[in-house]
Amino acid sequence: MCGIVGYIGLRQAAPVLLDGLAKLEYRGYDSAGIAVYDGKDINITKSKGRLQVLCELTHDGEKLPGHVGIGHTRWATHGEPNDVNSHPHFNESRSIVVVHNGIIENYASIKAKLIEKGYNFVSETDTEVIAHMLDYYYKGDPLEAIRKVMHRAEGAYALGIIFKEKPDMLYAVRKDSPLIVGKAADGNIIASDVPAVLKYTRDVCFIQNGEIAVLSKEDIKFCTIDAEDIQKEFTKIEWDVNAADKCGYEHYMLKEMFEQPEVIKDTLGSFFEDDRIVIPGVSITDEEIKKISKIYIVACGSAYHTGVTAKYVYEGMARIPVEVDLASEFRYRDPLLDKDSLVIIVSQSGETADSKAALEEAKRRGVRTLGIVNAIGSSIARDADDVVYTLAGLEIAVATTKAYSAQLIAHYMIALKFGLIRGEISEEEASDYIKDLKKLPDQVEMLLNNREKIQHFATRYAAAKDVFFIGRGIDYAISLEASLKLKEISYIHSEAYAAGELKHGTISLIEDGTLVAAVLTQEELYKKTMNNIVEVKTRGAFVLSVTNEGNTEIEKISDYNIYIPQTNKYFTNSLAIIPLQLFAYYVSVGKGFDVDKPRNLAKSVTVE
Ligand code: M6R
Repeated sequence: MCGIVGYIGLRQAAPVLLDGLAKLEYRGYDSAGIAVYDGKDINITKSKGRLQVLCELTHDGEKLPGHVGIGHTRWATHGEPNDVNSHPHFNESRSIVVVHNGIIENYASIKAKLIEKGYNFVSETDTEVIAHMLDYYYKGDPLEAIRKVMHRAEGAYALGIIFKEKPDMLYAVRKDSPLIVGKAADGNIIASDVPAVLKYTRDVCFIQNGEIAVLSKEDIKFCTIDAEDIQKEFTKIEWDVNAADKCGYEHYMLKEMFEQPEVIKDTLGSFFEDDRIVIPGVSITDEEIKKISKIYIVACGSAYHTGVTAKYVYEGMARIPVEVDLASEFRYRDPLLDKDSLVIIVSQSGETADSKAALEEAKRRGVRTLGIVNAIGSSIARDADDVVYTLAGLEIAVATTKAYSAQLIAHYMIALKFGLIRGEISEEEASDYIKDLKKLPDQVEMLLNNREKIQHFATRYAAAKDVFFIGRGIDYAISLEASLKLKEISYIHSEAYAAGELKHGTISLIEDGTLVAAVLTQEELYKKTMNNIVEVKTRGAFVLSVTNEGNTEIEKISDYNIYIPQTNKYFTNSLAIIPLQLFAYYVSVGKGFDVDKPRNLAKSVTVE
C-alpha cells in the first residue's frame, strides 16, 4: 500500500524523503513523488514507475532544495497509475500540499460539493479532495482546518500536510492507516513504517486514530481531533541496523527465508521463563483458559493459512474446537460467538484492514481477543485484549516467509500451554513436544542448506502453466501456503486442493505433464494421499512429493521427492514449507521477476 514520509529539520529534506521512500518500497507502489518547500514555493516532482525515476528527475533530490518536505509512494486505488494521479496533491493556489495513505470513502460526494463551490480537480484521486477541503476550511489556523477535514472525511487515512503560510511546520494525521513520528537530533520525521526513519533515529512514536502531530525542526506536539493536547510516549526501536538491508542476499525474500531458524528460535524462546512455559505478555487467566468454549482464528492470506494448520494443533493438543475464518468474510458474516469463545487475530503487519475490522467486530460482540502480531505497536497489537508478538523482526519481501514461520510457532506454543492448563496434555507429553520444537531451527537450517535439489527442480518447471498442490489435514494447510507463495511471486496459476477432493471435479484439469506437488507429512494419511498421487499419475501428471524421511515407498509412484526430517505430526508444516518456499522463490528468479515486489501486491493491505 502507499507509503508516506515527511521531514522537517536542518538537513536538506529531499534526500531524506527519497531515502525514506526507498525503505518503504517493500509496501508495493506504482508511482512516487515528493514536495519540498524552499521558503518561497512548494515544489513538486512526481512520476509513474520506480523510485529510481524520481531520483533521476530530481538529481537525487538536489533539484528540490528546502528543509521541509513530504514524499509518497502510491499504490493506485482511485485513478490509474500516472504522473497526475501520483501524490503529493496541491490545492489550486499551490499553498497546501498533501500526501495520503488510505481511502476516503465519501470522496465522491465531497468532490461534487467542492465542484459546486467552484473547485477544479486535476486528478482522479480521492486524495485531491483533502487538499481542496483543507483550502476550503483554512482561515489561518491549519489545525482547525485539519480537524474539520477529519470530521468530514470517512474511511482510512494517514496524511502528511504542509501549509505555505506555515513554513516551519509539518502536520501529520492518522485514522486507520499507520503513521509514526521519529525524533532525530537534526530534525523530525513522519513515515508509514519504522524502516523509513531508522537511518536517522530509533526514537519512534506511534500516532493513534484521531490524533494529529505537529512537527517543527526542534519539537513535536500532539493533539486530538477534538483539540485536546496530549503527551505521547516514544519507543526505542531495537531492530538490528541490518534489518532493512539485503546483507549480500540477492533478494529480501531469500534473506528472510534464511532468517527462519533464528526467528523460530527467538519466538520459541519467548514462550519460556526459566524452563516454564508462559504465553508472553498475556493477561488471560488459567480459569479463563479452562472455560474457552471455542477458538476462532481470523486472518488474511498466509496468516490465515497458519490458522488452517493451527486448527489441527489446538483441537489436537488442547481439545478446543476451532473455526478458521478469512477476516474479509468474518467481518460481514454475523458470526455466532459464544461469550466464552476466544478470537485470535493473526497478522504480520498488524494493520491489515480486514483483520482490524474483524477484531473490532469480535470486540463489539464482547468476546475476548488475542492478537498474534509481528509489528510492534501496530493497530491490532494495540487493540486486541492481549497480544503475543512473533519475533520475526522486520519483514520486507511482500511474500511472507519468516513471519509465517514465527506465527506457526506462536500457535504451537499457545496450544501447548492451553493443553497443559486444560489437562489435555501431561507434563511428560509437553516435554516431548518441546524437544521436537527445539529441534526445528536446526532442521529448518538443514533444509535451507540443501536447497540445490529444489532449485534444480524449480529451474526445470519455471515454464509450468498450472500447478496443483495436494495434501490432507495439515498437509492441505501446507499446500494452501505453498500455492499462494508460488502464484504471488511467479504468476503461475496454482491451486491447493484437499487431496480427497480432487476427484470431485478438479481432476478433470490434470493432463499430460501437469505438475502436481503432493505433501505427505501426516503418517496416518500417507497411504490415502499416495492413492491420490496414483490417480493424477494415471492422468499424466508429473508429481513432486514432499514427505518425511523414511517414506521411500513414495519413490515407486512419484517423480521427484524431497524429504523432511522427522518431527511431531503437529509441527511438520514448519519443515515442509521450506522447500516449497524455495521452489516458489527459484521459479520467480528463473522467470526474471521482481521477487520482492510482485506485481499488483502490497506488503500490508491497509484498505479493504
Ligand atoms: O500483515 P498480514 O499478516 O495481516 O497480511 C496478511 C496477508 O496480506 C499476507 O499474508 C499476504 O497474503 C502475503 N503476501 C502472503 O505472502
